[in-house]
Amino acid sequence: MAIKNVTVLGSGIMGHGIAQVSAMGGYNVILRDVEKQFLDKAMEKIKWSLDKLVSKQKISEHEARSIFARIIPKVELADALKDCDLLIEAVPETMDLKKKVYAELDNLADKKTIYASNTSTLPITEIANTTSRPEKFIGIHFFNPPQLMKLVEVIPGQKTPKELVDLTMNFVKSVSKEPVLCKKDVAGFIVNRIFIPLVHEAAWSMDRTKASMTEIDSAVKFSLNFPMGIFELADFTGLDVIHKATIEMHSRDKKVINPHPLIRQLFEEKKLGQKSGAGFYLHSGEKYERINLSEESAKKFNPIQLLATILNNVAWLITNQVSDAQEIEKALNLGMGLRKPIFETAKEFGISSIVGELQSLAKKYGNFYEPDPYLISVQN
Ligand SMILES: NC(=O)c1ccc[n+]([C@@H]2O[C@H](COP(=O)([O-])OP(=O)(O)OC[C@H]3O[C@@H](n4cnc5c(N)ncnc54)[C@H](O)[C@@H]3O)[C@@H](O)[C@H]2O)c1
Repeated sequence: MAIKNVTVLGSGIMGHGIAQVSAMGGYNVILRDVEKQFLDKAMEKIKWSLDKLVSKQKISEHEARSIFARIIPKVELADALKDCDLLIEAVPETMDLKKKVYAELDNLADKKTIYASNTSTLPITEIANTTSRPEKFIGIHFFNPPQLMKLVEVIPGQKTPKELVDLTMNFVKSVSKEPVLCKKDVAGFIVNRIFIPLVHEAAWSMDRTKASMTEIDSAVKFSLNFPMGIFELADFTGLDVIHKATIEMHSRDKKVINPHPLIRQLFEEKKLGQKSGAGFYLHSGEKYERINLSEESAKKFNPIQLLATILNNVAWLITNQVSDAQEIEKALNLGMGLRKPIFETAKEFGISSIVGELQSLAKKYGNFYEPDPYLISVQN
């Protein structure tokens, strides 16, 4: 089957960006939201983004006009679904809402329409099984902002056939993105399984070592080769997003995160990060301002405990055949901006030292930290 017509459901942060990249890939796009005012705002943002690409000479004015003309905003759902080959759902991350939306779709969508959910944390199989077509259902996880982020995780549900996986991987490539296959529908998929637990571990490290936030962040940036500190990245992402992802992922799998109460506390105090003026750090102004981190401060904190929990989750993904080392490296590079492969950084610290660190954390803080068998097997 060839995809020509794409309908994007939800025109918020993710939906409008996915609509834009799909139109840039040559597809006819319908962007659907529940109110016209949301669509007007989304179309304005798309126009702004295309104008920016013209001013940077990435596309011509003519191209920008035809891309924009390929995106039709619609409120009426039946209209939005007419002749739809691929439906990409980007409505808010609430299971009840998603189920309600798919029930509505099932009454109206063509038999041929494929359902692809952009959920970050909800189980693909569970959503798929509420629809009339679990064998036409797949996860397609774009990163924010979709216009800039190259990575897309593709997640088959239990009943997704291989042909649909291939079709979706090809669709992702055709919109100039890099697909990484997450072979099993596990909590957090690949990138969030590394990122979300790391925020909690950094908070635990602060308690356990008395290192300061900027010392930990400097070490994450300069010793672990992240593009920014982990508290900084959490503030940038939003503590609401992290808190909700934590609850969802932890309810599915206790092994994935050791939740630190500070994340919930910040969420309840509405300290959501950069967007609310305070999170782990204080922020001023609308524009994102980088936190002042230095190589000097980085020397004051040994991030081996953070590296150990990253590696343990990476190893878990490999042991459980969710992905392999090469694909995980690609996901971490494109999804989190890691400047160096994580296994290279790990080798600099020594994998046997990392295993030793996990064993000593397990002795002190419980079997959450027990090293994965894969890590033990590659330690020499
Ligand atoms: N924001 C992120 O950083 C990010 C990153 C990756 C994936 N995601 C996932 O993408 C999805 C959307 O997140 P978002 O941040 O874009 O949310 P958002 O709140 O910015 O946008 C959601 C949009 O969906 C609309 N909507 C609600 N019900 C609808 C319906 N029945 N039909 C059509 N539109 C409807 C809302 O009006 C809103 O405009 C979620 O599953 C989220 O987990 C978000």
